[in-house]
Amino acid sequence: MRALHMVRASRPYGDSVRQAAQRAQHACIDRARALIALLALGLLVVLSMPGTARAEDGYDLWLRYRPLAQADAVRPHATQLVAPETTPTQSATRAELLRGLSGLLGTDLAVQPTATADGAIVVGTPASSPAIAALRLKTKDLGREGYLIRSARIDGHRATVIAANDDIGALYGAFHLLRLVQTAQSLDALDIREVPRTQLRMLNHWDNLNRHVERGYAGESIWDWHKLPDYLSPRYTDYARANASIGINATVLNNVNASAQQLTPMYIEKAAALANVLRPYGIRVFLSARFSAPVEIGGLKNADPLDPAVKQWWKDKADEIYKAIPDFGGFLVKANSEGQPGPQDYGRTHADGANMMADAVKPHGGKVIWRAFVYSHETPDDRAKQAWNEFVPLDGKFRDNVMVQVKNGAIDFQPREPFHPLFGAMPKTPLMMEFQITKEYLGFATHLAYLGPLFEETLRADTQVRGPGSTVAKVIDGSLHAGTLPKGAITGMAGVANIGSDRNWSGSHFDQANWYAYGRLAWNPYLSSRDIAQEWARMTFSSDDAVVQPIVGMMMGSREAVVDYMTPLGLHHLMGRSHHYGPGPWVEGGPRADWTSVYYHRASKDGIGFDRTTHGSGAVSQYAPPVAAQFDDVKKTPEEFLLWFHHVPWDYTTKSGRPLWGELVHRYSQGVDYVRGMRRTWDGLKGRVDDERHAQVATFLAIQEKEAQWWRDASIAYFQTFAQRPLPEGEAPPAHALDYYESLEFPFAPGNG
Ligand code: GCU
Repeated sequence: MRALHMVRASRPYGDSVRQAAQRAQHACIDRARALIALLALGLLVVLSMPGTARAEDGYDLWLRYRPLAQADAVRPHATQLVAPETTPTQSATRAELLRGLSGLLGTDLAVQPTATADGAIVVGTPASSPAIAALRLKTKDLGREGYLIRSARIDGHRATVIAANDDIGALYGAFHLLRLVQTAQSLDALDIREVPRTQLRMLNHWDNLNRHVERGYAGESIWDWHKLPDYLSPRYTDYARANASIGINATVLNNVNASAQQLTPMYIEKAAALANVLRPYGIRVFLSARFSAPVEIGGLKNADPLDPAVKQWWKDKADEIYKAIPDFGGFLVKANSEGQPGPQDYGRTHADGANMMADAVKPHGGKVIWRAFVYSHETPDDRAKQAWNEFVPLDGKFRDNVMVQVKNGAIDFQPREPFHPLFGAMPKTPLMMEFQITKEYLGFATHLAYLGPLFEETLRADTQVRGPGSTVAKVIDGSLHAGTLPKGAITGMAGVANIGSDRNWSGSHFDQANWYAYGRLAWNPYLSSRDIAQEWARMTFSSDDAVVQPIVGMMMGSREAVVDYMTPLGLHHLMGRSHHYGPGPWVEGGPRADWTSVYYHRASKDGIGFDRTTHGSGAVSQYAPPVAAQFDDVKKTPEEFLLWFHHVPWDYTTKSGRPLWGELVHRYSQGVDYVRGMRRTWDGLKGRVDDERHAQVATFLAIQEKEAQWWRDASIAYFQTFAQRPLPEGEAPPAHALDYYESLEFPFAPGNG
């Protein structure tokens, strides 16, 4: 209609109608072209305007490389790139620097064989780069993965040098340099030396072969097993880039509740295809192994670790895997835990099982990571004590290529737990930390809970086993027990991944921070979670302080808020049965007492809390004497662990002066208030964060507020039946009666095991 109208309006005398129509059509096309050009120009201007918020979907994680406000300050330091490209890792390094710097600076870097002008970035190892060899830098003690970043002069030109002993160190250094640029740090007079404090920095995927992710809230598994090995999703490379950028160097592809199928030739081939993609980024593949695999896929009569046929089966299996994956990392094993098979099925110990598998991978340089997450409802003792009881007697009995992987707390990734008493208690065994990045117990993907402070709190906890300062971090990095660990003992950390097939990887934009923080702390367990949050927020949202500071503020208190509205004052394990979604303090009965809530909170008319003192279960005695003495004394126990260790009367006076009941209600409300505060802060950032991400976060925060209120109300309604006291003045009563909360069911909540 519009074109026809224009034809009529612009027809000059003497033209045929057809000519006029054609001319008008051309004019129309020209105008359209001009309009498109104008729009494109406009878009370009908008895109290159630093700080402008434009739609983003989160796929790029913290590697967004958007135009930098401070680009002018960086450009003189990045005029050309001198980086070899003869190995896959070198190619990845060069590609990342080009991609990153051209995105951040808006200019293309010239790639040169040598530095020919000021501002060269020179990357490599003494073997790969003559310029770096000529500098004769002290790289010896950097190991394979460490690196130096230095301002230097090369052939009279100012240069920034990234030097390492090995390609992978250079890749890590390249990511570090990019981080400096992304976070607007000065590139003058650089003198950085980085060596990872732990050797194995690993993700544990709880991914099943049917792509269901146990406790996953970010869609299906990232691994498309069905299409492997032929189709290699580009996502695998981006996964590798993201991990390498924070130093993660190992990944367990499949769930600890493992399928034996994973070890069949078909799936080994698929895992090998993934290993090929990840290798250039320094990431080694591990597999969770089902202990009964010799029976299930090997046709053996049993899986007894002392049976020669079983030993041989695992040796053969290891040989087969190493043929397909020469740098295969080894096996992760969950045995005799929550119904999984294990050596105890044959009257053998965890050490018997672990050592048998360790012998199978040893000739190939492989490791066995044996989980200490064991407990049984048939054992009458406090669940919190069982791992210690089983493993401490085995200290020193494991092969030197076995590591024992211990969850941060003795129950199960609760919003807050005291550090696991096994840390410090096995001086002859390398212990790996296991953190949970996915938020099984902290509100799934919709609750904003930055886990940096949780990780940091555990790592900084003082076991006191060798006097004050014997922190968990020192257990993990091997320094506390350097004299007693086996020679060449490996150190490491594992994080249960929150990664899935969702476009934004983690199910929510803020959950990316938990992946990031985990990686950074695995590299260096002594970093501060606040500094990490700053870094992450700058890279992920904006380099503008007016955006970064409010975001960091929200993040830093967010985990504590979850503790408050779910499990304040040391309460734990109060969530809905099986799926773990929402409050369920009333959960009781069923197959196992240790899977109920009443087992943990022990509320009665006289009080609430689990007495783990020397008068109760005695769990406190598993800690070193000074720590045990502190936790044994109700007055000395930090209030955040009060009800973890003590059964306390409802009118016990807490540190605030409020009676316990009042304090409990206060904490619940405080948690909800914090979420309201986060919503206000986030609303204030509208227009400063791109609309797409802003809107999703805003919606998730609204969900979080609703669910925080639900947790508060349901918990108060339930505990009030024991406390039998009115709500403190000013506290709103629960929106519903208790039976309403108890009636809610969620048969399709995600991530269920
Ligand atoms: C938790 C979780 C399970 C998981 C287990 C483990 O209990 O709910 O899904 O299998 O931890 O760590 O093995």
